[in-house]
Amino acid sequence: MKVLVVGGGGREHALAIKAAQSPRVKALICAPGNAGTEALGENVPVSANDLDGLCALAHERRVDLTLVGPEAPLCAGIVDRFIAAGHRVFGPTALAARIEGDKAYAKELMRAALIPTAEARIFHRFADARQYALTRDCPLVVKASGLAAGKGVILCDKPADAVLALERVMVEKVFGEAGNAVLVEEMLEGPELSVLALVDGETIYVLESSQDHKRVGEGDTGPNTGGMGAYSPAPIATDAVLAQVERQILVPIIDVLLRDGNPYSGVLYAGLMLTPGGPKVLEFNCRFGDPEIQAVLPRLQTDLIDVIEAVLDRRLSEVDLRWDPRPAVCVVMASAGYPGSYKKGHVIEGLSDAEALPDVTVFHAGTKRVGDKVVTDGGRVLGVTALGDDVASARARALEAVDTIHFDGAFCRRDIAHRAL
Ligand code: AMP
Ligand code: GLY
Repeated sequence: MKVLVVGGGGREHALAIKAAQSPRVKALICAPGNAGTEALGENVPVSANDLDGLCALAHERRVDLTLVGPEAPLCAGIVDRFIAAGHRVFGPTALAARIEGDKAYAKELMRAALIPTAEARIFHRFADARQYALTRDCPLVVKASGLAAGKGVILCDKPADAVLALERVMVEKVFGEAGNAVLVEEMLEGPELSVLALVDGETIYVLESSQDHKRVGEGDTGPNTGGMGAYSPAPIATDAVLAQVERQILVPIIDVLLRDGNPYSGVLYAGLMLTPGGPKVLEFNCRFGDPEIQAVLPRLQTDLIDVIEAVLDRRLSEVDLRWDPRPAVCVVMASAGYPGSYKKGHVIEGLSDAEALPDVTVFHAGTKRVGDKVVTDGGRVLGVTALGDDVASARARALEAVDTIHFDGAFCRRDIAHRAL
């Protein structure tokens, strides 16, 4: 079969590698892909947001199955478009993807289904939001309701900070239309956990657990990023915690969507805080986490294409996934300046030496090929993952691989998985 992967980051390289490992996949196309995906098949320069271009590509190339990585095309309705055109595609419809693209809607759904989540008020007018924030004498979280490339969440220790954040989002519109509605949320405390599940409309299959490291600096300091590393499994995701998450969060949200005539198909990602009062939802995402998937997929031993087809055919209840019991640690190598502004185009050296190390996979995130060189092309450049007999040896091996790779301005966190050690 011919598979199309939509997107061009580390998550999409991970999907492409797993797809290419399937004996059933004879050809792989990535749009737009990166220097890593190019080595597995063909990159076609169509943007992940160009739904017309992607539909035309699937048609012209007679693609059999499309995997969509990022949230933006899912929320814009790529799945609806592909289905209408008769193409097989993995991911939720635009209505179901609203669970990520419209946080105000997601909060209302959670309330309706009595799902534990941070308490929040939703505002459409700055004056109302400001007045509310000033009456609260506690740390608050200001969230743009729409998609803001992972940057729409602002943690505010004092009400005055919340007012400044509201002004930026609602008046200055730093996230554009995404700030038309805003949530002002209570700030929760506790360790965070990402729980990702496959959903075929009805059946839920919880994937192996993982934990992301959102802050840029070691010891979880500095500004939030898209994720500086991840590891799997996460010891805080005990069987008891996962059972509670499934019972109190995943089952009710899938049920309420199904009851509303809006069945969910694809990957559902619950971003959770494990509070003293139990797990609470910070957000839902409608896709695989990045970099979480770069720590989870290397552990998957079952053919990914078989699993995805089971979701599409609503046979998820019949499959059982096999996992490598060994832990995986993914260390992100980023460009100096990230998550702020950074330069692109630095030559990356040492990739093949790193990849030659046992149980190491180098996922390309922001890279591209220029002539015979691979150069940096984004803030998060590479996700370097290693499996090990234990977390410490997985991390040591990932760092050994990191240390064989060089580009100007490269930096990483050397403490990924510290909570598991
Ligand atoms: P989100 O994009 O909603 O996952 O938010 C990004 C990050 O902001 C999360 O991973 C948390 O670290 C933090 N965050 C979001 N909502 C809250 C909250 N209500 N309380 C504390 N931290 C939060
Ligand atoms: N790593 C966080 C996310 O994918 O949303």
